[in-house]
Formats: sequence, structure tokens, C-alpha cells
Amino acid sequence: MRVIVCSNYDEMSKQAAKLVAGQVNLKPNCVLGLATGSTPIGLYNNLIQMSDAGDVDFSEVTTFNLDEYYPISKDNDQSYDYFMNKHLFSKVKMKNHYIPNGETSDPEKECTDYEKRIESEGGIDLQILGIGQNGHIGFNEPDINLNTVTHLTRLTESTIKANSRFFENINDVPTMALTMGIASILKSRKIILLASGRAKHKVVSELLNGEINTSIPASMLKVHPDVVLICDKEAYTSMYLGVDIGGTHIKFGVIDDENHVLYKDSIRTRKRGKAQIIMSEIGAACKEIIKKYPISGIGIGTPGIIDKKDNRVSAANLPFDNDPIVDYLKEYIDLPIYLDNDANCAALAECKAGVHEDDLLMITLGTGIGGGIILGGKIYSGKRGDAGEIGHMCIQSDGIRCSCGLVGCWEKYASVSALIEQINDAAQKNPDCIMAQIIKEENGAADGETVFKAMEKGCPVANEVFDKYLSYLATGINSVANIFRPETIVLAGGITAQGDILLKPLQKKLAANINVKISRLQNDAGIIGAALLAKLSQ
Ligand code: GLP
Repeated sequence: MRVIVCSNYDEMSKQAAKLVAGQVNLKPNCVLGLATGSTPIGLYNNLIQMSDAGDVDFSEVTTFNLDEYYPISKDNDQSYDYFMNKHLFSKVKMKNHYIPNGETSDPEKECTDYEKRIESEGGIDLQILGIGQNGHIGFNEPDINLNTVTHLTRLTESTIKANSRFFENINDVPTMALTMGIASILKSRKIILLASGRAKHKVVSELLNGEINTSIPASMLKVHPDVVLICDKEAYTSMYLGVDIGGTHIKFGVIDDENHVLYKDSIRTRKRGKAQIIMSEIGAACKEIIKKYPISGIGIGTPGIIDKKDNRVSAANLPFDNDPIVDYLKEYIDLPIYLDNDANCAALAECKAGVHEDDLLMITLGTGIGGGIILGGKIYSGKRGDAGEIGHMCIQSDGIRCSCGLVGCWEKYASVSALIEQINDAAQKNPDCIMAQIIKEENGAADGETVFKAMEKGCPVANEVFDKYLSYLATGINSVANIFRPETIVLAGGITAQGDILLKPLQKKLAANINVKISRLQNDAGIIGAALLAKLSQ
């Protein structure tokens, strides 16, 4: 099956019209197989225009329609007879057009005669098809016993529901139809299958990625030597959902094939309660998003340590204590789910959608220091799954005790929490300095920005604090860079919003060959990276 992906519905319709016109110009007395539904209307409009402009002459063409509801009167504005007259036959002169007769009292005979009529006209040269959301073509519904010739069929609930949009009331939708069978369709010399819009994404990806299977009748087209699927991006593009679990917020983001963020949202992280409750809330939010976007997979970024064997997570700031959080989520979501550490996800996002380097180290400056290592375009987390915890690299052998049990951990000196402690310390020792004044004005609470505000006002104490902080930061970066010499070290976290104020003096303290950049993706890196886990695993 050849696939042509067009940017939108209009492009799809134009492409299809070109192929149909080409067929008619090549063989003016050809037989076309036509379809109904909303999808081919644009194609028919283009054919009308081409015919009006004299670019193509349909006067020798014979057409056969795929299907018709049963029973239905031709005058019913929902009959396919009415549809074809309205959208094509009343506007373009053709030699002959046939549609299964929905008024017949003998549907069996109508089907046999219809099949014979197609044969007597020499068979179909080019068949146009749409696709139902459940994979039907014509009205060949998913069924292990697919009838292969023109036949009377019962419509499935899902088709009745999908087609009810054209009727005033779902009870008005006929429950049966006359349709060409799969073999009738496959006898056509060429086939164009059209698919447009998000509603068709799921079935298009099942068709393209799945096996030939009667549960997707359109998959039978794979045995035909000349089928082209013309679809628009919305029907073709896969989307992935990234979930970035944090201590205060859980962020959700949807990305498309080109890693663009199409949707973002967040909920507050429940402080108390069990892991199951947090995962049920994530499940409920994911369910809502999946209703709106054609999601093919979900990626989760979580803080803490992941036991790679069975995806059990333990995290200090969350009620995750050796919990199989993916299994919890699977109770709510029937999609593939992938899991990795949040800093690793952010690093992956930088690799694929940010700085675009295949060897990089991501350093996240926040409450602690998170690290993510990308080697050869892939997350490196070691066999056990907990590599890259660079915040716990020792930079002072007799230094401050860390919650991890060691002393002198880098995050005790160069995280934003460490900077805030350094600010408070200096302000206490120098109560008259500008920085101490600023803290007083801000109700005694310093934050990461306090030092920058004070430096701007010319506070020498703040200059000193910041210089010392940069030395701590540089010590860690210089050490870690020697281990695997990444192409780029990417810094992320709220403090990096300071841009060059942070970067320029830091660079001076680093070895000459170290290339440090500030993350462009910042707060989105977590959701993009988590979504990328899903995208790259499929
Ligand atoms: C109908 C028709 C099909 C058509 C399908 C999709 O049930 N029998 O031939 O392809 O639905 O319709 P639409 O293009 O409106 O999504």
C-alpha cells in the first residue's frame, strides 16, 4: 500500500482528484467505483471544477457506487442515491451511474444483479474508498465471516453511531445495507483509499501497523497490488502523551510526530495518600486527554529511583515506596505505557527536540540537582536503572551531610535550595547589606532570585555569595565533564532564566573545552521527554 500524506483535507482532495482525472484522461470510457460519506465530497468538488474547466471529460464514464442503506427510498435525503446526485451526478454529465437499489423488495437478487452488472461493464478500473472508524470499507463490517461479493449486511452499533451524525435521530439510521463485498472491491484494477481527520487516526495506524485481519476489513486491501492511501496529517500523525510527575505538580503534554507540543495541562500533586490514588488521578486526567487526541502511547517521567526489573518506583518527595506505578495506571488506560526518571526524560527531550546533540548531560538545578545522561542519542541509566544521580557526586570530603547518607554531595552546594541557604547565611552575617534589606522587605523569605535582585542593586555581599555559588556549580560540572566529555551540558531549572547573568561568569570557571547551554525547553522538557519515551519505543 502506497501512502501519500497531505497537509490537510483540501490537499488530500486535490491529490485524489488528480489521480481520478488522470485515469479518465487515460481511458475516457473507464469504470469508476465511487464512495459516499463526508470524506470524498472534496474530491467530488474538485472533479466538478475540473469538468467545468474542460480539463477532464466524464461523458463516457460509467460509475458504480459501493453501497446503499437498506431499505431506503431514493428520495430520502440520507440515501446514497440522493447523496451522489447532490454531490456529483447533478453537476457532471456521465454515461451511466449505478447504485445498489435500496428500494428493492428482493435484496438478494439486487446483489447478484449488481455484481453481474459490474462484470458486464468490464470491471472497475479505479475504486474510490473511504474508511469507517471501525475499519469498514463500503459497508463491509468487521466480522470473521466477511462476505466477499455484493451482499445485504447488518450494520454494527459503532457504524450506526458514527453515521447518526447525518440523521436527526440515531433511531432513523437504517440498520442494514447493500454493499459490494471485499472481493468485488479487490477486483478493481486500482484503488484509492481516503482518510481525513483525527477520528480516522486510530484506524489508519491500525491499518498501517497491523496485520491483515477481518476485524479491520480495510486491511484486506494490503493484498491488492495497486492501492494508494491518501490521507491528511491529522489522520496519519501519531500523538504521544507525556506525564511529568513532580513533588508539587503533575504536568501533562501531548506532542505530535514532529515533537511540537499541542496541548499542556497540570494538576496539583496530592501530598498525602497512596501511590494508587495519585496514579488514579493521573489515569483520570489521561483518559480525558485521550478522548481529545489520537494518542498512540504514554510516557511517564518520575523523580526517584526506578527498579528497571518491574518498574517499581521509590521517591523521597512522593508516596512512592517501591510501587509498580505503571501497573496502577494500566488499570485505567489501555495504551502502551513507558517509564523513566524525570531528569532522564528532560535529557531525552533536549537530545531530540532541544539542543539536538546525541551525547549530552542534562543538569537540573532545583530543590536538588538532577542529572540525565544521553549517550549516542539514548538515555543511559545503567543496568540497575539509577545512573546519572550526579547531584550526589561528592565535591567536599568533609562537607555537609546529605539525606542520601553521604557527605559533601554536590546538590548540598549547587542546588537552588543550597543557594537559598547561602543567601540566608550571608544576610544573617551582614544584616545591613542590601540583600538582607531585600529579604526583610519580602517578609524574611529569600528565594533563588534574591541574590540577583541584590546584585542588580550593587550589593557586594550578594556578588560574593553568587561567585561562591558559581564556583560550587563549576566544580561539579568540571568533574563530571571529564568522565564522558559530552558534546553539550544543558542546564535547566528556574534559576537558568537568568540567562547570561548565570552563564557568562560560570563559563569563565569551567575548563576551556566544556560547552554549556541553557535549556530552551525548560519546563516543557519533562513532558516532551516523557512523551518521547513512548514515541521512540514504538
Ligand atoms: C459510511 C460508508 C463508507 C464510508 C464511511 C466513512 O458508512 N458506507 O463507504 O467510507 O462511512 O464515512 P466518512 O467519510 O463520512 O467518515
